[in-house]
Amino acid sequence: MKIGNIQFARPFISLAPLAGYGDVAFRRICRDYGASLTVTEMVSVKGLVYGNEKTEILLRLAGNETPSCVQLFGSEPDFFCRALSLPALSGFDIIDINMGCPVPKVTKCGEGSALMLEHERAADIVRACVSAAGGRPVTVKHRLGYYDENKNAPEFAAKMQEAGAAAITVHGRTTKQGYGGVADWDEIARVARAVTVPVIGNGDISCREDAEAKIAEYGCAGVAVGRGAIGNPDIFADETQTSRETLKEIIKKHISYALEYFPPAVAVRTMRKHLCKYLSRVRGTKQLRLYVNTVTDAAELIKAVNEL
Ligand SMILES: Cc1cc2nc3c(=O)[nH]c(=O)nc-3n(C[C@H](O)[C@H](O)[C@H](O)COP(=O)(O)O)c2cc1C
Repeated sequence: MKIGNIQFARPFISLAPLAGYGDVAFRRICRDYGASLTVTEMVSVKGLVYGNEKTEILLRLAGNETPSCVQLFGSEPDFFCRALSLPALSGFDIIDINMGCPVPKVTKCGEGSALMLEHERAADIVRACVSAAGGRPVTVKHRLGYYDENKNAPEFAAKMQEAGAAAITVHGRTTKQGYGGVADWDEIARVARAVTVPVIGNGDISCREDAEAKIAEYGCAGVAVGRGAIGNPDIFADETQTSRETLKEIIKKHISYALEYFPPAVAVRTMRKHLCKYLSRVRGTKQLRLYVNTVTDAAELIKAVNEL
């Protein structure tokens, strides 16, 4: 499995970009457990160009993120070029373009999955990125289409390939579906057949066995796991550990990573939402989840985990 000149071992099982969850500490722990690739949360090219300070935290990389991948979103080719000329993006090995975000705040600006309604503009963005990326592979992540009645992902993917995309990730839902219903893997397979670059299928993968089965069954070069990895980073491991003690160790390691990258208050805030997801794997933790949401101190958080 290759993205541009970058070789990956098989099976390729990556962490999908996850705004609000895919922070550097979480990506590091996903890599620890074997994620083939981890992608940053989506970063606005306008935010980068205008020096928005919120983007700095999104661009931090963990030491084990090699190769690394940044996901950018925007609607104007020129802004992508300008963003890619900034030193802040020079350390990333792969540039991914978000053409799948369904959030109205994003689509109403012509960004995210709104680009599936404007194939020429989307292709111009890919061309602009390829020209500014200095030989680094440029990839695209999109959906099955914008409207349910117009699933045009195979044509769209072919157009992105023609514009220079080195790989395509397809989330098996339309924009209108949001995150509801089930991902349509037959449609993902149609995309895999429509292009020659690697296609990474995405949607509803809940365990490692499922990931490997989807790769085999739907002709994808690999898969990306999103929600299935939140509170469950060992989904990437050959063997998932289910004991409570192992879960505690994973959570404590995750907390220690968060404290390494973020100021204590930010680390605790970030970990609260992750912890709720971890605890949702364990029966009888409703009270603990409610409590965790009120904690403001890292030592308290660790104490709560130890009491699990
Ligand atoms: C909380 C959340 C944040 C997301 N953020 C992004 C993002 O920044 N960029 C992106 O391309 N997709 C984003 N997605 C979509 C996921 O990458 C993925 O395509 C989708 O969740 C389907 O995969 P899954 O069923 O494995 O979760 C997000 C999804 C969720 C639930």
